[in-house]
This record gives sequence, C-alpha cells and structure tokens, in this order.
Amino acid sequence: MNIYPRILVIFGSTRQGRRGEVVAKWLMDRLAMRTDATFELVDLRDVSLPFFDSPTSPVHGHIAPEAEQWAAQVDRADGFIFVTPEYNHGYSAVLKNAIDHLYAQWAHKPAAIVSYGGFAAGYRAAEQLRQVLIELKMVPIREQVGISLVPNWIPSVSDAPDSPSGAFLDRSFNGMMTELLWWVTALIPARERDRLSQD
Ligand SMILES: Cc1cc2nc3c(=O)[nH]c(=O)nc-3n(C[C@H](O)[C@H](O)[C@H](O)COP(=O)(O)O)c2cc1C
Repeated sequence: MNIYPRILVIFGSTRQGRRGEVVAKWLMDRLAMRTDATFELVDLRDVSLPFFDSPTSPVHGHIAPEAEQWAAQVDRADGFIFVTPEYNHGYSAVLKNAIDHLYAQWAHKPAAIVSYGGFAAGYRAAEQLRQVLIELKMVPIREQVGISLVPNWIPSVSDAPDSPSGAFLDRSFNGMMTELLWWVTALIPARERDRLSQD
C-alpha cells in the first residue's frame, strides 16, 4: 500500500498570455518545502485532450483512447489541488473538459482548490468547481486559497509574509494543506480496502 501520498496539482488555464503561471509557481514553491507528500504539477497545456465527445459517459468505465494517458496520471494520484482562474464567475472550460473525460480515476479522493481572479479572488469559480467534484465522488476540501491578480488588491502572491494579507495567505495555505493531507491519509487505506475486496 502506498503510504507516501501523491498529490497532482492541476493548473487550469491554457489561455495565451495567461497570468495564472505566477499563482502556480507560488503554490509549487510552497509545496516544494513540504515533506509529507509528493507534488506533481500538471499543466493542462501539456495534456492534449480533444473536446469530450464520447458516445458513453466515463461513469460506465469507457475512457476515450486520447484520454488514456491522462486517466493513468489521475489514477495514480491520491489527491488533487486544482488551480483555477475565474472566467465569467465560473472555472475554466479546459478544466471542465479534463474533468469530464474521466470518472473512476477521481472517485474517493480529496481535492483542494487554489482559485485566482479579480476582486473576488476566484471564489465564485471555486464554489462551482466544488459542486462538480462532488458528482465525481471526490471530497472537496472546505479550506482554500483565493488570490487576487488586481494590482494592489489583496491577497496577492506578492504580499510580504509579515504583512497582514501575507499572513492571511499563509494561514489559508496551511489550513488547506492540513485538511487535504488529513483526507488523503484517511482515504488511502479505504481505497486499498475496496481494491482488495474486488480482487
Ligand atoms: C473570458 C474571461 C472572463 C473573466 N471573468 C472574470 C470573472 O468573472 N471574475 C474575475 O474575477 N475575473 C474574471 N476575468 C479576469 C481573470 O480573472 C484574469 O484575466 C485572470 O488573469 C485569468 O487567469 P489566466 O490569465 O491564468 O487565464 C475574466 C477573464 C477572462 C479572459
């Protein structure tokens, strides 16, 4: 049984000139300092998936041939951190497409959200994403990080750690990771039990 959790960080903007790279980098820099799990960044630009058009839903176990590599990558993970922009109060279409291609590979795994955007720091996109994750039998973590990209607006990735907003960001990140790892650790043996009972 794998007791060293593998967390996939899924970066959900593929837009030309995307600004979310600064958020993904901020997150990966912080995760690099942790020793309680491995953290792998997946840029959806590198996951070349067509628009989902399968005749049957992946809930029935069918995965499109073009999504098989993506399925294997998600299947190996014990938990996820979605890094999502906010577009028109929702999360990105490219992220929804990547989610919809799979089903069982997501199930019974926890997922945290780092959202970013304008004044609302992507919180509206995060709320939408939570609803969808539940349908895929994931466990969305309540604690989250929300980052604003509006200059001089807070919290921002450029906030000094000793400023009030920098400290708030720190607390958000630490709270999110504590909860994520709690669920990751709780669910690894539960999924293993399921796997053994199916053998
Ligand atoms: C199509 C589109 C819709 C947007 N809608 C919102 C929105 O509803 N709320 C918000 O805070 N920012 C919104 N923005 C601003 C984005 O948060 C900002 O452009 C951000 O940089 C997007 O992330 P990205 O650059 O990594 O793709 C929108 C941007 C685009 C391109």
